[in-house]
Amino acid sequence: MKGVVLAGGLGTRLMPLTAATNKHLLPVYDQPMVFYPIQTLVRAGIDEVLVVTGGPHAGHFLRVLKNGQELGLKHLEFAFQEGEGGIPVALSLAADFADGGPIAVVLGDNTTDADIAGAVRNFSDGALVFLKQVSDPRRFGVPEFDPQDKTKIVKIEEKPSFPKSDFAVTGLYLYDNQVFDIIKTLKPSQRGELEITDVNNFYLSKGRLFWSKLDGFWSDAGTFESLFYSNQYWAQKKLAVKKGL
Ligand code: DAU
Repeated sequence: MKGVVLAGGLGTRLMPLTAATNKHLLPVYDQPMVFYPIQTLVRAGIDEVLVVTGGPHAGHFLRVLKNGQELGLKHLEFAFQEGEGGIPVALSLAADFADGGPIAVVLGDNTTDADIAGAVRNFSDGALVFLKQVSDPRRFGVPEFDPQDKTKIVKIEEKPSFPKSDFAVTGLYLYDNQVFDIIKTLKPSQRGELEITDVNNFYLSKGRLFWSKLDGFWSDAGTFESLFYSNQYWAQKKLAVKKGL
């Protein structure tokens, strides 16, 4: 399977940090943020990756990632997203790269030490989302489970005021190639963007949405709090490894 890291958007929530560079190049302890989603893909056996980025600092990526070999990639491509139309708009730029096959997608501000290799290996078709229990589900896409059958998602709501569960749909997704046709049918949400939650609900309506719990640490890093939290986690983890703890 090939992989896509979505690192577009303008990162306005992190101004003035993002006046200097793209959000996904800001540090998470000892590495630029974007290294983490790429490493998640590499650990899952994926070595062909497309990074979708945009905004005024897009050129900085080339200096940092070069040809991706230092991160274990065989092939690295870039695509440029104009504006901030939403996650599905960024993903649609990967249609040619996917070349008819399935695709593993990671949001560029998501870091995790979970292993998704098994899920990638076993994926055949439909869509697979990874869920994580969180203390603040209102910031995320949130699944509602069938009260009769807690393994069944009945709906996903994007940033609900009254979340129906305490799980977040994380920014890691596996999609079959149909995703690119689904994106073409989407309409902008109230915040004026295409929503990845609408893509996932489309698969759900066809009975083709599967889910799995993400084991290990997971966080986004798009706000000062979550960026700080991610830095704290990775610093502690890497320092402990260094000290042999
Ligand atoms: O982190 C997981 C959450 O990410 C999910 O639970 C939500 O369902 C999903 O909508 C998303 O929510 P956010 O509001 O946190 O997404 P945000 O707009 O911060 O975008 C996350 C990443 O997606 C960003 O770091 C880069 C990429 N992106 C985003 C937009 C809006 C793009 O590449 N292009 C875009 O136009």
